[in-house]
Amino acid sequence: MATNSIQFQLVLLFLCIHPWSQLLSNAACTRKDRKALLGFKAEIDDLAGILSSWTGSDCCKWLGVGCDKKTGHVTRLNLRRPDPLGKTLQGNLSSSLLGLRHLRYLDLSLNSFGGISIPSFIGEFKELRYLNLSKSGFVGRVPDELGNLSRLQYLDLQSQSFPVGLYMIDALWISRLTSLWYIDMSGVNLSNCFNLLQALNMLPTVETIHLSLSQMNTIPQSLPHTNFRYLSFLDLSLNDFDSTEIPGFLFSIRSLKHLDLRDSGFRGIVSDAISNLSSLEFLDLSGISMAKIPRSLGSLCNLTILNLENALPSNGLSELGQVLDGCAKDSLQELRLAMNGFSDHIPDWIGDFKNLRILDLYQNNFYGSIPEAIGRLSSLEILGLSRNQLNETVSENIGQLSRLITLDLTFNTLNTTLTEAHFANLKSLKHLDLYNSSLRLNLSSDWFPPFQVEYFYTRGCQFGPKFPSWLRNQRKIQYLDMSGSGITDAMPDWFWNITSHMTELYMSDNQISGKMPKSFSFADNEPVHIDLSYNRLEGALPQLPPNVEGLYLSTNSLSGPIPPTFGNEISNLTYFSISSNNFYGSIPSSLCKLQKLKALDLSKNQFSGEILDCWDKFPDMEYLDLASNSLSGNFPKSISLLGSLKLLDLSNNSLFGPLPDSVECVSVNTLDLSQNNFTGKIPSWISESLPMLRILSLRSNSFIGDIPSNISNLQNLHILDLSSNNFSGSISKNFGNLSSMKVAPAEQSYAYFDDFSWDGLIMKMWVMTKGRYLEYGKLLSLLAVMDFSENNLLGQIPEEITDLHGLQSLNLSGNHFTGNITDKFGDLRLLETLDLSKNELEGKVPASLSGLNFLSHLNLSYNHLQGRIPSGGQMNTFDDSVYAGNDGLCGLPLKVKCDADNGSKVPPTEVGDNGDGHINGMLWYFLGGAPGLVIGFWTVWGALLLNSRWRHAYFTYVDKLCEKFGIRSKYRF
Ligand SMILES: *[C@@H]1O[C@H](CO)[C@@H](O)[C@H](O)[C@H]1NC(C)=O
Ligand SMILES: *[C@@H]1O[C@H](CO)[C@@H](O)[C@H](O)[C@H]1NC(C)=O
Ligand SMILES: *[C@@H]1O[C@H](CO)[C@@H](O)[C@H](O)[C@H]1NC(C)=O
Repeated sequence: MATNSIQFQLVLLFLCIHPWSQLLSNAACTRKDRKALLGFKAEIDDLAGILSSWTGSDCCKWLGVGCDKKTGHVTRLNLRRPDPLGKTLQGNLSSSLLGLRHLRYLDLSLNSFGGISIPSFIGEFKELRYLNLSKSGFVGRVPDELGNLSRLQYLDLQSQSFPVGLYMIDALWISRLTSLWYIDMSGVNLSNCFNLLQALNMLPTVETIHLSLSQMNTIPQSLPHTNFRYLSFLDLSLNDFDSTEIPGFLFSIRSLKHLDLRDSGFRGIVSDAISNLSSLEFLDLSGISMAKIPRSLGSLCNLTILNLENALPSNGLSELGQVLDGCAKDSLQELRLAMNGFSDHIPDWIGDFKNLRILDLYQNNFYGSIPEAIGRLSSLEILGLSRNQLNETVSENIGQLSRLITLDLTFNTLNTTLTEAHFANLKSLKHLDLYNSSLRLNLSSDWFPPFQVEYFYTRGCQFGPKFPSWLRNQRKIQYLDMSGSGITDAMPDWFWNITSHMTELYMSDNQISGKMPKSFSFADNEPVHIDLSYNRLEGALPQLPPNVEGLYLSTNSLSGPIPPTFGNEISNLTYFSISSNNFYGSIPSSLCKLQKLKALDLSKNQFSGEILDCWDKFPDMEYLDLASNSLSGNFPKSISLLGSLKLLDLSNNSLFGPLPDSVECVSVNTLDLSQNNFTGKIPSWISESLPMLRILSLRSNSFIGDIPSNISNLQNLHILDLSSNNFSGSISKNFGNLSSMKVAPAEQSYAYFDDFSWDGLIMKMWVMTKGRYLEYGKLLSLLAVMDFSENNLLGQIPEEITDLHGLQSLNLSGNHFTGNITDKFGDLRLLETLDLSKNELEGKVPASLSGLNFLSHLNLSYNHLQGRIPSGGQMNTFDDSVYAGNDGLCGLPLKVKCDADNGSKVPPTEVGDNGDGHINGMLWYFLGGAPGLVIGFWTVWGALLLNSRWRHAYFTYVDKLCEKFGIRSKYRF
């Protein structure tokens, strides 16, 4: 054999099979062959529409058919899915195909013969040289009859339908394919086939073996006689070999050029005998977790690609340096060392690999600087340093990598500034990824970059305050993310000239000012996402290109109406948020044409008029937020048909009338109708048809009637606000069953979209906590709140409420509740806010309240409470307003002293003079109050320090707040 190259073999095969004789003579196809093909066609379901060309008498002219032009025999049938859209052949393989007695080449790959097995008659094509049935949906046992194809040279049975696909039990038949040089059985289930390698070893001519993802679990440790003389390509990756040693016979196959053992299940030992494989060019040992690096690795002088991902001991870096200090230095072009836990500086020896094109050090613990040595890798095209702990500087030498295409420094803590020098000669740079690297960029505005970047991901890197004007000449950008870059400048007009290839533009969380353009020009072949939220942009809503899928302009200073024609030509718009701007006017009916909408957020503007009633047009709508506008009219009936809706927020408008009698919104988890003028009773669907409900607010409306006790059946409800209505009657003791309030709420994903989630679409809501209404966003999921205040409720407060141990805020004020405050309120350990004011409660203030370490807001004023106010813990931090309007209370912080014996109030005449009272107050502060504050502080901080979930959520929240106000938080996780 002149050469081992697969390409050469394929060309040879092609030359042999191709009907060259066509040039010489022109025999038409035989009737017999034509009949065979038509028989085949009759049982095929041809979605690709290629067999429709099979008409006319000369079948040699049919698509996919090739003949020997001397004899007119069909020798070749190539029906590999020719359709780029993936349309395939399906159906049955008719045995009439056997009429093609001279067939040498059969390719049915990439079709979907789903569910049928490979017909055994294929073994009868005595002349067959080439058989390709890969990824064509065949299932079941590979028929042994294929062993009759004694002239077969090329066999591809790659199976994709894992775990239901092809399988093999006995491979003996393969040893009869004595002409075979190429075999691919990847994806074929070989978990019960134990003799495949033995069978292949009997084929002296075999050159290429693909056995990836084949569920193989055993491999012979040795072969009696290693026959493979020409084997150059062996892929055993992604198997389940459960063995600590790679079998020695592999290292005696001296012809091997390509050996792939990635995640093959081997672990532990790679023998030094690997140096026998002196022709090796490609070696993938990733996932093998070697205890020791084979010394001889460095003597593989033809090795160009070496993958040692997740394969080396974490202290093995310097040893690796010694091992590779041979001719590998000159030969290696690709070195992958990701996920080895190396905790070290990036070593200087790395700079000696002169021909390295790819260096991947992803996800180790490298710290320190990016060294000068990297700058010596003059052939480098891809440098991956993502997810390390690089925390110092970046050598300017990196700017000399003139072939560098991709630079990925994401997820590091590089405390340094990149300057023009770092980019000086990066002529080839296309892909710059600096997200979460903590880098700053200081590039002067008249700088002219040597590159044309396509992917520019610098979210969070500080560039500001000036808008980076060197971007002006970057005309090939497809992806640009400069969110949170500290830019406080005006958006230059030229910016809209560099967007014409973009599909993604993210510039939120800056303070970019200036006018929005009248229209945009973006890439026109793919869905486009544009996020300019949290800036200071002015002007009107721009005209959008038709392929915009997501547009986020929230929290800017945009104004004007939505143009009446807005929805006409943008039918792909799926995510649309313009909340917190100054838009006004009515919501135009052309929005009804946006039938792909999943999220519509028009909240916090000045829209007026009635809400559209075409919501039945939006079958995919999940997120509908029209809150805080001046919308009027009734609850739009068609909203109740939105079966996918998860969030509905109509709060703070002027809507009125009763709610509909029934809804089909079974997926709703957040319903906020607060601050409107809705009337009538709470409809039964709220408790019966919304099983996913997590948040319900009907605050500040004019609802009447009882609070239905079966609201307590809502298993996920953790925020319930029914305050400021005209509800009457008593509270059912069933409310003690609200299971989501019984435990501390878990941080849940409040992503409303499975396929896409974006910070611009975080539900925000005003919730009474800490004694006042605060707006919450992401942290909503961590709250458990019950608010029934300002209604006409009466009777006792059911003791069962104190079973809701997760409650943080309970507000029952402004009702007519009677009876005592049970001592069991002390069980509500997470309570921060307790407001029972303005009721008709009697009896004592329970001493157990002093055990509530988080309690920061207590209001018991205007009741008929009596006796000594308990002290200790947080109780010492409250002032007297907490107890005002209860004429029977005594003790600090009131000026009213208690009778030492029975704890009852001492007549006011016995209180000391003003001066005395003052001193008491000061003493109380220094002796009781201040320590109470300290305790309060430390309980909160102690909890934050101990509970990582809370801590994370808290600091994320702090971070967000800081970013929103332009302050950079020091807390980074
Ligand atoms: C290494 O590669 C060179 C050039 O491709 C080739 O001539 C030489 O035979 C190879 N060495 C081995 C041991 O295969
Ligand atoms: C970088 O991290 C290493 C390892 O954690 C540490 O020893 C070194 O002091 C850090 N350097 C700086 C500048 O913080
Ligand atoms: C970053 O470096 C500066 C000095 O260049 C130093 O003052 C600062 O503390 C460093 N920050 C961190 C987080 O290491």
